Amino acid sequence: MIIVTGATGNLGRRIVERLLERVPAGEVGVSVRDAGKAGDLAAKGVRVRGGDFTRPETLESSFEGADQVLVVSAAIRGGGAFEANKSAIDAAVAAGASRIMYTSHQAASPRSLFPPQQVHAATQDYLATRNVPFVALRNGFYANALAIHLDSALSTGQITVPQDGPVSWTAHEDLAEAAAIALTSADLIAGISSPLTASTSLDLGDVAAILSRLTGRTITRVTIDDDEWKTAAIARGLPPMVADFSLGMFQAARRGEFDVADPTLETIVGHRPLPVENTLAQLLDNR
Ligand SMILES: NC(=O)c1ccc[n+]([C@@H]2O[C@H](COP(=O)([O-])OP(=O)(O)OC[C@H]3O[C@@H](n4cnc5c(N)ncnc54)[C@H](OP(=O)(O)O)[C@@H]3O)[C@@H](O)[C@H]2O)c1
Repeated sequence: MIIVTGATGNLGRRIVERLLERVPAGEVGVSVRDAGKAGDLAAKGVRVRGGDFTRPETLESSFEGADQVLVVSAAIRGGGAFEANKSAIDAAVAAGASRIMYTSHQAASPRSLFPPQQVHAATQDYLATRNVPFVALRNGFYANALAIHLDSALSTGQITVPQDGPVSWTAHEDLAEAAAIALTSADLIAGISSPLTASTSLDLGDVAAILSRLTGRTITRVTIDDDEWKTAAIARGLPPMVADFSLGMFQAARRGEFDVADPTLETIVGHRPLPVENTLAQLLDNR
C-alpha cells in the first residue's frame, strides 16, 4: 500500500488524485489529521486513517501495511517542523516501508536565509541516515505563494515589498504529477532529486507585468527597504514572527536561492511545466 500524508492539503490531495489514475484505490491510503476532510477519498475506496506528526503514536495505525510512505512536509512555524517530519520518517521505518519519500524543496540548505529550507535540509539528511531507500523530491517554489501579493496589487496597483530575486514559480499540479509518477516507478528517482521546477525564473517585477496583462490594469513593482517594509507590515497587523519569516524569503530570493530552472520536472511529467501565468489566472479567478 502507498500511504500519502497531508492528503487534505493542496499538494497531497492532488498527489492522491494523480495516484488514483495509476493504481487501484485499494492500494492507496492516506494519513490525515482530520479524516472528516477526506470523506470523498474514502468513498473512492482509499483507506483513510487519522495521523498527526506531532502525535507519533497515531502514525502506527495510519502507516500500517505501508510499502511506501510519502511524507508531505508539515508546515509548522515557530519550531517543531523538523521534529514532526522526523516522527513521520521514524513511523514509516517502523511500519516496514520499503521506500520513503519526502517533499523537500529545490533550495533546501542548512545555510538558506529562508528557515523552511533549513528544515528541509535537516529532514533530507535525517532520511538518508535511516537505511531505507528514500527519495527527497526537491520541489520548486509554489507559484500559489504569489497569492500574498494580490490584495495590495489589486487595491493599490502596486506590489510594494523588499528587493527580491528570480524564482522558478512552480505549479502544484506539476509537482503532484511528478510525485505520483515517482511513487509508481521503481527507479525513476533515488535519493535527493534534482530541482523539480518550472522552466523559467521570474522576479516580482516580471510578476507585476504578467498581472498587468491578466487584469488589464497597470500594476507596478515598488521596492522598499527591509526595515521600512517590516515596520509597515507589523503596523498592518502582521505578527513580527511572520514578518521576519517573509523577510527571509525576500532575502533568500535576492541571494538567488530560488533562481534555478531545471529540466528534470519537464522530463518526469513529459510536458512543459505550467507557466506562472496559469496559477496567477487561477488565483485571480478564485477571488
Ligand atoms: N515548495 C514550496 O514552495 C512550499 C511552499 C509552502 C509550503 N511548502 C511545504 O509543502 C507542504 C505541502 O504544501 P501544501 O500546499 O499542500 O500545503 P497545505 O495545503 O497547507 O497542506 C499541508 C498539509 O500538511 C498537513 N499537516 C500540517 N501539520 C501536520 C501535522 N502535524 N501532522 C500531519 N499533517 C500535518 C495539513 O493537514 P490539515 O489538512 O489537517 O491542515 C495539510 O494536509 C507544506 O506543508 C509545506 O511544508 C512548500
